[in-house]
Amino acid sequence: MADLTSFFRPNSVAVVGASKTPGKISNAIMRNIISSGYQGAIYPVNPRESEIEGLACYPSVGAIPDSVDMAVMVVPASKVVAAARECGEKGVKTLTVITAGFKEIGKEGLELEKKLTEICEEFNMRMLGPNCVGVMDTHTPINASFTAAAPVKGEIAFLSQSGAILLAILDWSATAGLGYSKVVSLGNKANLSEIDFIEEAANDPYTKVILCYLEDIVDGARFLKVAGEAAKKKPIIVLKSGVSQAGAQAASSHTGALAGSDLAYDTAFEQCGIIRATTMTELFDLAIAFTKSPIPAGDRVAIVTNSGGPGIIATDNVEDMGLKMARFDKGTLDEFRTNLPKEANIYNPVDVLGDARTDRYQYALNKVLDDPNVDSVLVLMCPTAVTEPVETSRSIVEARDAHPDKPVFAAYMGGPLLAEGAGILAENGIPCFTFPEPAILCINGLNKYKRYLDTVDSKQARDQLEVDQKTVKAIFYDVTRERRLNLLSSEASAVAEAYGIPVAPIVLTTTADEAVAAANEMGYPVVLKVASPKILHKSDVGGVKVGINSPEEVQKAYLMIMESVHRYLPKVVVHGIEVQKMMPKGTELIIGMTKDVQFGPLVAFGLGGIHVNLLKDVSFRLASSLNDEKVVGAMLSETKAYTLLKGYRGEAPRDMAAVVDVVKRAARLVTDFPEITEMDINPVFAYENGVSALDIKITIS
Ligand code: COA
Repeated sequence: MADLTSFFRPNSVAVVGASKTPGKISNAIMRNIISSGYQGAIYPVNPRESEIEGLACYPSVGAIPDSVDMAVMVVPASKVVAAARECGEKGVKTLTVITAGFKEIGKEGLELEKKLTEICEEFNMRMLGPNCVGVMDTHTPINASFTAAAPVKGEIAFLSQSGAILLAILDWSATAGLGYSKVVSLGNKANLSEIDFIEEAANDPYTKVILCYLEDIVDGARFLKVAGEAAKKKPIIVLKSGVSQAGAQAASSHTGALAGSDLAYDTAFEQCGIIRATTMTELFDLAIAFTKSPIPAGDRVAIVTNSGGPGIIATDNVEDMGLKMARFDKGTLDEFRTNLPKEANIYNPVDVLGDARTDRYQYALNKVLDDPNVDSVLVLMCPTAVTEPVETSRSIVEARDAHPDKPVFAAYMGGPLLAEGAGILAENGIPCFTFPEPAILCINGLNKYKRYLDTVDSKQARDQLEVDQKTVKAIFYDVTRERRLNLLSSEASAVAEAYGIPVAPIVLTTTADEAVAAANEMGYPVVLKVASPKILHKSDVGGVKVGINSPEEVQKAYLMIMESVHRYLPKVVVHGIEVQKMMPKGTELIIGMTKDVQFGPLVAFGLGGIHVNLLKDVSFRLASSLNDEKVVGAMLSETKAYTLLKGYRGEAPRDMAAVVDVVKRAARLVTDFPEITEMDINPVFAYENGVSALDIKITIS
């Protein structure tokens, strides 16, 4: 882990390019450092001045009499490299390079950035930026940036790849009442990136929540590792903008076509426990929720409302999000039956009716919070002539205080009539929104994080699958030697079989007699398919014959296929004909893999067959996460295929354990062999007992 102490708690700071002129960035930085209350030594560096903002000014970093922990660079781009070298020679530990004009302006800037990075490496200096706003720590305190608004002390570490967004957010936070432990403008991430700062913030005692605005992630594998560990300690909320440059490659496979360009980020974030926000509003709503609320024990939500409509809207939203409406304990219902008006809805959502005053809200809220079947609560209020928003808000705070383990959120649906009450909730750390949806989004975010912690906590042994790597290596060796990228079906089946995936027997034959022998060996009925990596649509050239029941039919089919293929494609090299055992029909599934440049292989699972692209019933996970039953189970359960497998409309359930096993084995195969660029196993037939992979396509690089 990089030691970033000198960014956040430096003993001394030099401002290289400090200026006396108000209105210059380099003057603003000097003023910000001083006004933030920074207690360490501050050394302005400028060859033209002897004093800046009342502090002795030095002509160069080398001329500073003491050691320097951090140098903030605010000289023009053309002077940065020389100034950085001087810092290196002086023994400066960290550089914060504010200057723009590097990678972001093109080739020339990129060259300059490269030189700057090389100097950092040469002198073992860590660098933030270039092209950044600076760095702040409210607990040190230090504000080494040119922000107009200083951050208020708080528990959020905010890392932003956009300086402008950071500046806007800091100003907005002052009105929103959000406080920060540290704020980092990541800039071009030439040396240090969000990964280093996430790692640091996870270990920072003043940080409770890590908030990131990111435009890209450069080292996917390291990000997964570091963020996954960090998220075990603290929630990480990320707004990732921009269409992924590193999205799934354009692909010819079904799986590749099904994976959207941003899917890898979604999957990666989920795998390492990151809560993904899709808008700026969500980012900060979630930040408030995670800072103020406890993590709920589960996904069961109770709603207390004084009006029916909003209760229904909120209920729909709870269910759409995949949360559950809590089913109250019998004791709670009995009490409600006795103590609430008979017109009140005592089931969830609890409707305390439009004439509810503080006492009724208070009673109902405390009861649902007491209920063991409730994990979090949403209070809805509409302003009627008799509603008591201020008093009721105070009672909500009391109820929350009496139940500190359960998150309480509110949506006060109105305007000025409810403003004071809403203010009381906000001041007391109960997130209060105007409408229910953001509150439910926050409850969902908290719950997702809880699920991540549960997965991490689960002591379930990771399976050690028995696999035969040698056979796969040998097959790939032969295929590469023949300068092919696509495996024949029989080769792909042999690869899958080596990894313990049950496959329908398939044999490559080169004469009709061999085909008969193979069919006799595996038993009838069989299918005959032309074997050529060049023929993608075999049926179109008469290259497939199904339902063959006897040796005579095999002979005949063999000759017919050869004749037909030669007629359609006289120049194509044919390796022979593959004889495959026809399997009884099962539930058709697809298990596939496509590759993301950043995060590696992504495995897909869903409904298979010829309609996969139409049905689009697939869920994805990074292959590296699929060695845990729970993760595979969660992946399966996101699809309609899962409903079929469980036994739909009276059908017998399919062998779920065997399906889970195949997914794990497929994931292991593509992880062990990075040369596999695409894989489709479609269909996989799932039976009451066992599974069988029928058609396997593997492409290697
Ligand atoms: N060592 C120390 N001081 C030096 C120096 C050196 N080698 N070379 C020049 N200086 C001094 C200058 O004399 C000047 O001081 P002065 O005001 O007393 O004359 C000061 O450093 C600044 O240099 P100047 O040439 O006036 O530059 P500037 O202030 O106009 O611009 C930057 C400098 C870094 C602000 C500008 O180049 C820049 O990058 N702006 C964009 C910043 C940005 O947007 N960052 C990203 C945000 S997301």
